[in-house]
Amino acid sequence: MTGFRRDAQDAAVLGTLRLSQVIRDAEVELPAYVYDVDGMTETLRSLDQAFGDAPHLVAYAIKANSAGTVVRAFAAEGAGVDAVSSTEVELALACGVPEKRVVMSGVAKTDAEIDLALFKGILAIQAESVEELGRISERARATGHRADVSLRLNPGIEIDSHAHIATGHDEAKFGISEGDLAAAYAVIDGSEGRLSQVGLSVHLGSMMTSTDAYASSARKMCSLARERRQRAASLKYVDFGGGFGIDYGAEPSVPPSEFAHACVRALRDAGLSDLMIVVEPGRSLVAPFGVVVARVVQTKQSAPRRWVMINAGMNDLIRPALYGAKHRIELLDAAPSSPPWRVVGPVCESSDDFGAHPLGAAPEGLVAIRDAGAYGFVMASEYNGRALPSEVFLKGGKIVSVSRSPGRKAWLERRLNA
Ligand code: LLP
Repeated sequence: MTGFRRDAQDAAVLGTLRLSQVIRDAEVELPAYVYDVDGMTETLRSLDQAFGDAPHLVAYAIKANSAGTVVRAFAAEGAGVDAVSSTEVELALACGVPEKRVVMSGVAKTDAEIDLALFKGILAIQAESVEELGRISERARATGHRADVSLRLNPGIEIDSHAHIATGHDEAKFGISEGDLAAAYAVIDGSEGRLSQVGLSVHLGSMMTSTDAYASSARKMCSLARERRQRAASLKYVDFGGGFGIDYGAEPSVPPSEFAHACVRALRDAGLSDLMIVVEPGRSLVAPFGVVVARVVQTKQSAPRRWVMINAGMNDLIRPALYGAKHRIELLDAAPSSPPWRVVGPVCESSDDFGAHPLGAAPEGLVAIRDAGAYGFVMASEYNGRALPSEVFLKGGKIVSVSRSPGRKAWLERRLNA
């Protein structure tokens, strides 16, 4: 069993271990992230299998959770990485991801970042503008390398998601619009071999709970790839992006395998089955397998309102404050029961509010904030004098590593010396 569940005594379990025991054994201060790494690798494996014998690369969007324990586990399964900075590229390589399984996206790659990608010989730099292609070509000339590039298309497709995480619409800063593709091709074709187009890429945005938009973008990508291939024999992959949603408790999502099937179908229908499929999932591989464990500090009642103050805040998990996201919060020692309480953190901002959760008559002890394995720790901050949280990693029924919080003292020292 993987992910979050309750055992026969109603105690909260992650993977195969009781969370309260994990916190005791790990000897970490709270709040702390706890991850079920086996759940993550199982999800990766089943996505991988969904491609059947179609050539493919699952390029994990490492920004979702960049913990070495997670990245090394994925690397061992043969996954690649989609990185959005040269630091992420270096992390992926250091975790054992082969360079030809790494792609680099991002709208404002610096010259130094482009150079690093060229020196490391990654699968492709995914260019997000015609101007950037010119800069990559220039860096290739300056460093004496050939640059393998992919063009990230902005297909002008709106998805039904939060505005801050939809990226494929035509006002987004991401990608090259279809109207500018000819200009992009011209830069490549006129580069005297300095640029080699190996891919065509897209990413519509995050949290798609159905495959409709993904499949229609996949068909568009395939028709563009078929056309481009006549001129660019170097083309070896089509990257359909990430964005597979998960079920945060309010709305079911389709499993990642259905997105894989949509890619396989689109390539087959376009007669391009020899091209490699690349996908860039982040959230779907890791989100359900991470929780934040926090402590109830106190309750507050002022009729008709009821609050529970916990010792995790928006600095530890910013998704509710930033996107209005709702993460289920449950007591570790008791199944959800009414009444609902408004769960808030200690940060001095009214947006430090996790919403209403059924925590029973007298909430106390420890709580788990669920589905926090993606875009959780990686977006944490030290706001309000709060140290970054610890992280605990579970694998094979035991704690395999703990990354400890730098602690309050370190915070104090850095700010004193600033
Ligand atoms: N590829 C590219 C180029 C991306 O920009 C992203 C995510 C992904 C792949 C992975 O998307 P995923 O499979 O994780 O949906 N912080 C937000 C999500 C931001 C996503 C940014 N880009 C959140 O917490 O919901």
